[in-house]
Amino acid sequence: MEKKNLSKNDDEPWRVLEFYSGIGGMRYSLTKAGVNAQVVEAFDINDTANDGNIQSLTADDLDSYNSHAWLLSPPCQPYTRQGLQKQSSDARAFSFLKILELIQHTMQPPLMLFVENVVGFETSDTHTKMIEMLAKSDYVTQEFILSPLQFGVPYSRPRYFCLAKRKPLSFGCQVFDNQLLQSPTPLFGDNNVTEIDKHDQQEENWDKLLQSCDPIERFLEFNNPFFQVNTGTDVPETTGAALDDFRASEKIVEENGADSLDQYLVPFSLIERWGSAMGTGSLLATIQPKNRGKSSSLNEQGLRYFTPREVANFHSFPEDFEFPQSISLRQRYALLGNSLSIAVVAPILKYLFAQPS
Ligand SMILES: C[S@@+](CC[C@H](N)C(=O)[O-])C[C@H]1O[C@@H](n2cnc3c(N)ncnc32)[C@H](O)[C@@H]1O
Repeated sequence: MEKKNLSKNDDEPWRVLEFYSGIGGMRYSLTKAGVNAQVVEAFDINDTANDGNIQSLTADDLDSYNSHAWLLSPPCQPYTRQGLQKQSSDARAFSFLKILELIQHTMQPPLMLFVENVVGFETSDTHTKMIEMLAKSDYVTQEFILSPLQFGVPYSRPRYFCLAKRKPLSFGCQVFDNQLLQSPTPLFGDNNVTEIDKHDQQEENWDKLLQSCDPIERFLEFNNPFFQVNTGTDVPETTGAALDDFRASEKIVEENGADSLDQYLVPFSLIERWGSAMGTGSLLATIQPKNRGKSSSLNEQGLRYFTPREVANFHSFPEDFEFPQSISLRQRYALLGNSLSIAVVAPILKYLFAQPS
């Protein structure tokens, strides 16, 4: 079947399809990247976010959008380390496999594709099928594993990204074709780059990266001293008054129901149950130990959850991003947890959509 390449005048926007759109991380990333693009349709089965089962799409449906680029962030559960790792045999992978299959049946295959997933995807059988399918349909690929930490955000969340361009289109730094990189160097606009700093790729180096990130306070929304992170040397004693405050506010939550700031405090009883075995991934220790390096028990650290707005800040969502009132706190955390880092995805999309000079 003779394939058609969709043409576009320079001043016309790229027509983009956003698959698995959730709360629109891809669309926000396109805007942040300054790409002249129009999202002509967004698909998501979860009607809290949008509507449309991707599995029921046909090649004709896809052709009807006359789209130049497809952005996809399929479910990650089939590939997460904590899950069963059923990969392509997990029902949640089926719609993505179907889309990949449909590419070869479309009359106007997209010129560009972008896929986001968890680390672990790159070693899955779905990945093998994706790369085979893309090669068969004449795409050249570049792959990355990158974290917000590498983009000035004090947040470690490495994710896998695949960029694909249909020949004769090509990437700025063609030396990295068909490679998986753990460095953002090619994204920074110098097409003559031929080597990447291997240090970038090493997790041991991440402490150093953290020092070059924006301070964490910039991502927090509360100015209340009780909720501020104490990072200076004049840190108050944590065992006396602060802990009493902490217990007192826990009591306020019990008496008055979850309200404003207090609803984000981790209940004392929960901390006791967790003991010291718990990681503090999505929690903020509002009180640092008096002496650096000195360990302190969890209940001395004034633990609270990040608020949804703070999670959105770590994902670099714009200030005007907000949830409709009807979305519960639980749903907000779930939707944000599924979303992506705009600080990472925006420069990747900028690189993908750029025409090599
Ligand atoms: C990893 S999340 C993507 C989140 C999105 N990138 C964002 O910024 O919020 C995967 C999304 O795929 C949706 N999804 C899963 N299976 C689907 C299907 N068969 N059709 C359409 N959407 C589906 C889920 O509802 C979820 O919102």
